[in-house]
Amino acid sequence: SEQDKKNQVIDALMGQMTLEEKIAQMNLVTPTSKTGPFATKNVYEKLKDGTAGNVYSVMGEAALIHKKATIADSTRLKIPFLNGLDIIHGYKTIFPIPLALSCTWDTALVEKTARVAAIEGTAVGYNWTFSPMVDITRDPRWGRVMEGAGEDPYLGSLVAKAMVKGYQGDGLSDSTALLSCVKHFALYGASEAGRDYNTTDMSRQTMYQYYLPPYKAAIDAGAKSIMTSFNDVEGIPATANKWLLTDLLRKEWGFNGFVVSDYNCIQELIAHGLASDYKEAAELVVNAGLDMDMASESIAGAIKQSVEEGKVHPSKIDDACRRILEAKYDLGLFEKPYRSFNPERENTDILTNEHKQVAKEAACKAMVLLKNDKQTLPLKREAKIALVGPFANIQNQMFSMWAFRGEADSVVTIYKGLQEEFDNVKYAEGSLITDEPVFLKKSRGYYNIDEQERLQEEAIELAKESDVVVAVLGEAMNMTGEAKSKTDISIPACQRNLLKKLKATGKPVVLVLINGRPLTLVDDLQYADAIVEAWRPGTMAGSALADVLSGDYNPSGKLTMTFPRSVGQIPIYYNHKNTGRPYVDGQRGGIMKFKSYYLDELNAPLFPFGYGLSYTTFEYGDIELSDTLLVGNNSLLKAKIKITNTGAYAGEETVQVYLNDPVASLVRPVKELKKFKKVFLKSGESKEVVFELSTEDLRFFNHDLQWQWEPGEFNLYIGTNSEEIKKVSFNWVK
Ligand code: IFM
Repeated sequence: SEQDKKNQVIDALMGQMTLEEKIAQMNLVTPTSKTGPFATKNVYEKLKDGTAGNVYSVMGEAALIHKKATIADSTRLKIPFLNGLDIIHGYKTIFPIPLALSCTWDTALVEKTARVAAIEGTAVGYNWTFSPMVDITRDPRWGRVMEGAGEDPYLGSLVAKAMVKGYQGDGLSDSTALLSCVKHFALYGASEAGRDYNTTDMSRQTMYQYYLPPYKAAIDAGAKSIMTSFNDVEGIPATANKWLLTDLLRKEWGFNGFVVSDYNCIQELIAHGLASDYKEAAELVVNAGLDMDMASESIAGAIKQSVEEGKVHPSKIDDACRRILEAKYDLGLFEKPYRSFNPERENTDILTNEHKQVAKEAACKAMVLLKNDKQTLPLKREAKIALVGPFANIQNQMFSMWAFRGEADSVVTIYKGLQEEFDNVKYAEGSLITDEPVFLKKSRGYYNIDEQERLQEEAIELAKESDVVVAVLGEAMNMTGEAKSKTDISIPACQRNLLKKLKATGKPVVLVLINGRPLTLVDDLQYADAIVEAWRPGTMAGSALADVLSGDYNPSGKLTMTFPRSVGQIPIYYNHKNTGRPYVDGQRGGIMKFKSYYLDELNAPLFPFGYGLSYTTFEYGDIELSDTLLVGNNSLLKAKIKITNTGAYAGEETVQVYLNDPVASLVRPVKELKKFKKVFLKSGESKEVVFELSTEDLRFFNHDLQWQWEPGEFNLYIGTNSEEIKKVSFNWVK
């Protein structure tokens, strides 16, 4: 069988390998930075002398990447390298950031974006990507929320699966497949207080029910590598956590790929206070079940001695080496080490029109219409548009910090996109991105507050001469991503000030947001007649936004992370548990006095999970159930609802199904997303949407972590977002 053949090849190879050569397979180095105890030596020398067996972030054109990969030929056994890169939302054709992609609720499209990314990344010789990032995120202060699919485990799992399938395509041996690496295992998204790299602490029930499913889904979809997270889990850093890496991942989930640490995580066990030196750190992680060391070189530096001293059993090294060689085998590298290197593909397969079309479709579908008073949008083609804001005529700000191979020159700016779509567009910058010196200096290289006054005046003048203002405001690229946590998640003050002044001109104002996290927008709402959340849209930013503003594309995106009213409400997420003292906003006083609320803020978010408007309106009928009493595991419940497009435009609606188990052996969330369907309806058209539910949808992890369901009454909700819902109830008994 194929497995026997693989075993034979790997057995034969490992039979020839020395302990040092096996350890080298566990070593992943990068030319981009030099940390760790052996940082003095050039990484390419390490690859050449056989002390490192894998490399990532060799950046350049195909010829250079190929040249560096051929260093493997000069080692004794010529074992090819895994050649990795963070290809997160596209290689050169840049898609919207992952958080935005999840707002499409279109898993086929998400898969397509990952496929394109893999075609482009492999065209220059990469065979491994550190994606998808599947960390559940409930705290928008954390800068890395932009890299994931938001707060819901069900949707997050579907997105995780779609991305793995997209990267790995028809199978790893295909020359356009990238080995996918799921990250960051585990719970990185729950970093306390939204501060990056911070500790996490949660019950096993919360882990199993909410945080772990997307990692599991990615593994079940075939991801053969997984990256540990920087944080500790139950007091033990993930990278050294035997329960996590061996008991859960391998024994419970059956994962048979390899585990790589995140950058320098092994060394960081010293700062965590778990190890006193890098040798002890290396012993801890290898004994816990880690296979590969990213960048710290602790394993390469110390583990041989630990094996000789009997602190690490040689079988641990054999296991790790075998898993890594298996991935190389699966990728077809032993037969064709440079399988995807083909100088022609670099010219024909990157930034193609077809890829740009996928990027445009994704950007259109990811945009979320947050507000549209008096049908301010769509705009008329002949409208005199004052386009203002620091993001309106700039290319690189359409990317994120994780699109470092994206080519800014290829970006269609918002100004260009609008000029192509509308007859009369004039542009003024209007504001600096921020008047905070630290950020400003970084993005502009200088800081001059007088400039702000001048820019603002120009924009106001332009607004006065126009029919409508389109203000493109938000966060700079370097305000979201890794190590970009913030306590103030509003639009920077100088931009908000501009918005206020634009509104004072009396012209209708359309606010277009460029950002990577939910923002607090309560104060800004009054200054915008319409708001489009455009995220960081990528290469086709301008073309996509022009289609949305003109109505060529009727917005259909739905939020996958709750937008809080204020930072004080965080963490805020739709699938929260009930308390013993639930409170209904607006009913303060009397018997509500000692309920669960804030004295100075509502409980409700500004925009809930699943929220997103359209230029048309959808009317929901009543839910019809096939039964109200169901018995046993083999029954199926059908829930039917009629959706009617009652507005003037054709459009797509994402119909969402939520479930609640009001009496159970554990406190259950007020609702959980269980299904959704996208329906396209012409103006005036109606469709019946039918959902099927089984007892699988009733299951949850009980206190003993058994995945089971409990008989009784259930509430089923169907609606346009997690708050605006129709309700019915049914009973399901054993
Ligand atoms: O993949 C990333 C990870 O998300 C953060 N630390 C560095 C890795 C490799 O670049």
